[in-house]
Amino acid sequence: MPAPNYISLCPLSSLPRRFGKRFELEEGIEVALFQVEGNIYVVDNVCPHQKFPLLYEGEVEESAVICPMHGWKFDLATGECLSGGKARLKTYKVVIKNGEVLIEKPEPEKPKWME
Ligand code: FES
Repeated sequence: MPAPNYISLCPLSSLPRRFGKRFELEEGIEVALFQVEGNIYVVDNVCPHQKFPLLYEGEVEESAVICPMHGWKFDLATGECLSGGKARLKTYKVVIKNGEVLIEKPEPEKPKWME
C-alpha cells in the first residue's frame, strides 16, 4: 500500500524501455514516464514551451527527451531545457516500492495571481 503522499503508476515489470508511457493522475494531470538505462524518470506530459500535450511521444536521447513539436530537448532528471530555452519541464520524484513505480503526489498549482 503506497504512502498517502505517493501515487502508484504501474508495476515495474510493465515498463517499456526507451519509449515514453503516459499516465493520467486523479487530478487530471498527465505525466510521462521514461525508462532509460535502468533509470526511471517521470515528467509532465505537457511541454513547457508551447504546451504540446504528448511529450511522452518524444524521442529519447541519452537521459533527455526531445519534444515532437519544435524539437526542444529537456533533461529528464532535472527538467532543464538543453536547447537554450528558459522553460523548465516539471519533474516528479520516483520511488520503487514492492515492485511498483510510485511518484510523489504533486502540489496543487497556485493560481497565477498568488505568485
Ligand atoms: S511545444 Fe515542445 S518544443 Fe515547442
